[in-house]
This record gives sequence, structure tokens and C-alpha cells, in this order.
Amino acid sequence: MAKNQPTFTCTACGAAHTKWSGRCDACGAWNTIQEDEGLSAGPAANSLGARRGAGMTLTDLSAKEAPPPRTSSGMDELDRVLGGGLVPASAILVGGDPGIGKSTLLLQAAASFAGQGLKTIYVSGEEASAQVRMRGARLGLSDANVKLAAETNLRDILTTMEAEKPDLVIIDSIQTMWLDTIGSAPGSVSQVRAAAHELTSFAKRKGVSVVLVGHVTKDGQIAGPRVVEHMVDTVLYFEGERGHQFRILRAVKNRFGPADEIGVFEMTGAGLAQVTNPSALFLSERGKPSPGSVVFSGIEGTRPVLVELQALVAPSPHSQPRRAVVGWDGARLAMILAVLESRVGIPFAGLDVYLNVAGGMKISEPAADLAVAAALLSAREDAALPADTVIFGEISLSGALRPVGQTENRLKEARKLGFTSAIIPEGGKPGGKTGLKLTRAADLIGFVGDTFGAG
Ligand code: TYD
Ligand code: MG
Repeated sequence: MAKNQPTFTCTACGAAHTKWSGRCDACGAWNTIQEDEGLSAGPAANSLGARRGAGMTLTDLSAKEAPPPRTSSGMDELDRVLGGGLVPASAILVGGDPGIGKSTLLLQAAASFAGQGLKTIYVSGEEASAQVRMRGARLGLSDANVKLAAETNLRDILTTMEAEKPDLVIIDSIQTMWLDTIGSAPGSVSQVRAAAHELTSFAKRKGVSVVLVGHVTKDGQIAGPRVVEHMVDTVLYFEGERGHQFRILRAVKNRFGPADEIGVFEMTGAGLAQVTNPSALFLSERGKPSPGSVVFSGIEGTRPVLVELQALVAPSPHSQPRRAVVGWDGARLAMILAVLESRVGIPFAGLDVYLNVAGGMKISEPAADLAVAAALLSAREDAALPADTVIFGEISLSGALRPVGQTENRLKEARKLGFTSAIIPEGGKPGGKTGLKLTRAADLIGFVGDTFGAG
């Protein structure tokens, strides 16, 4: 391919394209493709560098040279998502919708890490230092030992980092940073990518940890966090719904720990509070037993979390009935509906189907299949399930139920929260005594018969 040929990048999903088009065929977003200057033109690919790269083998890394241990922030919910604390010289991306609470979270995290003895700098490109200080005062962090800088010129920031030799630098946000070697405006794909590259390579070189804040954007003018995901060690997304005070910090990539781990927070008048028992929180809004409501015992990362699934099934006025899902996978819902129709003989044609995971939680486990099927049937038959029952299990296309991992942990959590019975697939063997009344089903037909009388 000819050198210096312009490339194009989708600001929403980060996919590369060879030519501009109005719609990104990778993620389907419109008007998000931007010309990308790429990183600064380096030397020709076939010229040799001055330094040799390979110098040691894995066994050369003696215990003395092994990297220093992680630093705990003192906030358990944050430490868990990081895989057990902050790894020195790591690069972390925290993405999330504007206004979800990223700046709040990171100012609190900065204060916590500073309290553990890390020299911390919080660089705001969006707010003046006085505004950050006001926010700090509101969060009760006035005497935290965090240095504040209001700066967007990356060269100045790197100079400051060089001089101050911090342990941790927080950049809020990467979309406001700009490099004078790049012609395009701050927030463009080229600027965001170049700034992230400079910061992460500085971090590795100097042993500084950096946290990059990235707004998830929808308009295509500003590059989103997806564009830099591949450059960092850890990618966290801060999720939640505007109307709810719950916020979930989710690890989607982590070179130093398990992905899919979550930390749960609550937005209060004085900042984010940790939620140490998320199950109790997610079930707190549950009223009396009602049709369509089912409690699913799920696993998020390393711990069990109970959530309520809500389904609504109603006759559709449309020729093409609606299927709407919040917090679960739409394709998976279509599969469950198809299995219910063709294996159990319960039709959903002509019916609108809505499924919601309460509390703004998102579930991706196939273990939720059986709970979803139960919620759909309960809504369709207008029959409430007993309020003290949890349900989980995977459904295969044949209609058979498959046991899922960590059955015992799921049951224990349910027991802890006062549930007395569980419906699970046959073959799932909890080791010890669970204290729950277990109903087991081998397939969906058996489950429907047991739970709703005749199929
Ligand atoms: P912010 O951290 O500025 O969001 P982001 O950096 O992701 O854009 O949070 C903004 C919202 O959080 C704002 O709507 C007000 C709310 N908030 C509280 O409810 N309590 C607080 O103590 C603070 C600081 C913010
Ligand atoms: Mg902010």
C-alpha cells in the first residue's frame, strides 16, 4: 500500500476504513467517520533503529527486579475492578457518558490514592482548578494531598510530569488534550489517539500510572474512548442510568486482572458512595410479587449479584410486534422466544414483548436464560411467581436446560438475602447444604409444567 495514504477512523467504534463514507459498516453509526492523520510520520519501516530491543529473557527477571506491588486505593469497589489495586506504570481508560460521574469518581480516587502515599496529579482540561477545588470541597476532600492542574496542552503536561515525578496522573478528559504537532482540532481522532499514545508511552517509560477519562460520544465530531482502548492496559466503563443513583464501574479489558469485574457505587449529594452489598440494592425497589417479575442470581466478575428481571407481554397493535430489551441481549431474547414457541409450543406471535433488568444493571451471562423465560411466561400468563424464589440456568436450542458455573455461590447469595427456594437445571450440583428448597428441571417443558401448571 502506498505510504501516507490517508486512513479514516470511526469516532464511535474506532474501526479503520480506507475511504470516507457516511455510515460506519462496523458499528452502523452515521456521520462518525473522520480522516485520521495517524501518529506522527515515523522513519521508513525498513530503516534500523539505534537501540536494540531484546535484552533479557523472562528468567532474567529476578525477584528483586519484579515490579513493585499494587497500591490499594482503600476503596474496595475500585480496587476490585482494577484487579486488586493500582499496578505501577499502568495505563487505565475510564469511559462513560457525559455527566455520569467520571470526574467525581476520579477526584475521589485521586484523593484515596494520595492518602495511600502516592504522589498524585489531577489534570483537568474541562474545569478550572478553582472549580475542581470547589468540587473537592463538596466531596469533603479539601485537605487531600492531590495536585491540581488546569491544562490542555500535552507538551506542558508532559513537562510537568517530568518535573514533578508523580506516581499517578489523572487526565480528565483525553478529548480536551492537544498536541501542537497535529493539525486537527482537539477531540479529533488524530489528536485523541496521539495524546493517548504520548501519555501511555510516557507512563511506561517513567513508571507513572495514568488514568485517561474518555467521554462516550454520539455526534461523530469528537472521538470516543473506543479509539484508544487498544493502547491502554485496563479499560473501565462507568455506567448507569440518569434517573437512578446507582453507578456501575465495569472492567471490559484488564491486562492485570479479570475482565467483567464490577464495582457498584451510589451517587449521593456528597459524591459517590461504595455499595458493598449490590444484591440488596438491586432488589430494594422490588414491590410485592407481580407477574413478569423474576429474581435472577447472577455472577458478575468474582461475586454473585441478584437482580430483578421484569417482563411485559401485551397484544400488539402493530403488524410487526415489538421486542424491546434493556440490560440484556436482544438476539438472546429472540432465541428464548423461538425456543419457547417451537419446543414448548407457547406462541408469542402478535404479542409485544418488553424485558428490563431493574436498577440499570446489564447482564451478559447465558445463565440468565431460564430467568428470562420465566419472566416472559409469568407476564404472558399473568401469573406471579413466588417472591422468595431465585432462578438461573442456560437454555439450549433443543429446549434442554444446562447447569451453569458457580451454582453454589449463586445459591449462597440468595440464602443470604432471605430467599428460600430456587429453580435450577438438573445436573447443577451444589456441594454443601444450601438451606434452600431446590426445584430442578431437565428441560423447558418440565420447567413450564412445574412452575405454571400445564404447558
Ligand atoms: P461528573 O463527575 O461531572 O460527570 P462526568 O465527569 O462523567 O461528566 O458528575 C456530574 C453529575 O454528578 C452531575 O449531574 C451532578 C452529580 N453529582 C452529584 O449528584 N453529587 C456530587 O457530589 C457531585 C460532585 C456530582
Ligand atoms: Mg467530567
